[in-house]
Amino acid sequence: MKPVTLKDDIYWVGSVDFNLRNFHHYSRSPMGSTYNAYLVKDEKNVLFDTVDDKHCDELIRRISEIMDPTEIDYIVCNHLEKDHAGCLEKMVELCKPEKIFCSTIGEKFMRAQFNTENWPIQTVKDLEQLNIGKRNITFLETRMLHWPDSMVSYLQEDKVLISNDIFGQNVATSRRFVDEYERPFLLQAIKDYYYNIILPYSPLVLKLIERIKTLGLEFDVIAPDHGLILRTPDDVNFFINSYQECAEQKPKLQAVIAYESLWGATEKMAQAIGDGLSSVGVPYLIIDAQANHCSSIMNALADSGALVLGSSTRNNMPLVSMISLVAHIKGLKPKNLVGASFGSHGWSGEAPKMLTEELTNMGVEIAAEPVRAFFGPNDAEIAECVELGKKVGEALKAKIAAL
Ligand SMILES: Cc1cc2nc3c(=O)[nH]c(=O)nc-3n(C[C@H](O)[C@H](O)[C@H](O)COP(=O)(O)O)c2cc1C
Ligand SMILES: [Fe+2]
Ligand SMILES: [Fe+2]
Repeated sequence: MKPVTLKDDIYWVGSVDFNLRNFHHYSRSPMGSTYNAYLVKDEKNVLFDTVDDKHCDELIRRISEIMDPTEIDYIVCNHLEKDHAGCLEKMVELCKPEKIFCSTIGEKFMRAQFNTENWPIQTVKDLEQLNIGKRNITFLETRMLHWPDSMVSYLQEDKVLISNDIFGQNVATSRRFVDEYERPFLLQAIKDYYYNIILPYSPLVLKLIERIKTLGLEFDVIAPDHGLILRTPDDVNFFINSYQECAEQKPKLQAVIAYESLWGATEKMAQAIGDGLSSVGVPYLIIDAQANHCSSIMNALADSGALVLGSSTRNNMPLVSMISLVAHIKGLKPKNLVGASFGSHGWSGEAPKMLTEELTNMGVEIAAEPVRAFFGPNDAEIAECVELGKKVGEALKAKIAAL
């Protein structure tokens, strides 16, 4: 693949990781991902971000098709996570840049991760401007979106936003632009990425969107560091609106029942809860925590407003895939959910209560007491599960009606 021109003298020079299936060791990435880096030719030639260390040769090859890497004057590090800064050391050694720009926290993260002795690091503050010849760059701090060091770079004259981890998606392809894909595919990719990576910082996303409006920033191109690049006004609006919707997390009329079961008893309970939900008009999905990667539940939650967790008890604990699923969900801090828990047991049966405690700690509105089956489930326990499904469904409908 050749470098790709975004605008005159502005190029994508990143790399494509077609076979990446485990993004950052916690989120599945069935369509791979890309590490996007951008090169701007001007009086000062600027490289924005680098790539994962394994892909450094690809980055150097692409840059070399445009200029000798030693002609790079400035390197901008919008974010010091290894997927973008993994080969920073190699690039600094090769390019010998006059300056390396990053945020103040970025400098700390840079010095902690690399041997930065004699590096010409220059920190930039929020809204600081840098002239590189024909162009002016504005840096916007985007703290905790998604790391404390994160910032984005805006090329004022070209109206190009280099948005780092914001507005990305995990899609590996030689096609480089959003307008080469259908909207339903894109929406799914946005939700997958947003719900597994950006979700905990949703209040900051809403503030950023507000800030973009207040500052009157206009975008011809939004160039994220993962996946496809946006270059039409329609796509820019579509992405910003989709981010706004994801961040608002309004409850949707769908429930997710996630469970784990040793011998199938808890699984039968999950089915009965589904019957209860559909009897009050609430569609549902059932997700087996062991058969699915924990990140796949987040896509389902993007379209839901209820989360029902089930596990049998083993050695006084919920089963381990359920524990890891709960840890994954909890860290992502979903909002505006109703929920409940259930599970079969043989003697002590702690799991359902523990799951309800977890839901409570996550701020989920508990719609029903946990339902426990003694082995079974027998008919009475099945009826209790149906009832639990109805209660969750009604609570969800009431929550949506109150919006
Ligand atoms: C290794 C093992 C440990 C178990 N530990 C507990 C326990 O600590 N407390 C309990 O109530 N039941 C315990 N059980 C019993 C299961 O919870 C019970 O068989 C339950 O009906 C399984 O439901 P499931 O088919 O949905 O997995 C244990 C079962 C196994 C195989
Ligand atoms: Fe990151
Ligand atoms: Fe990233």
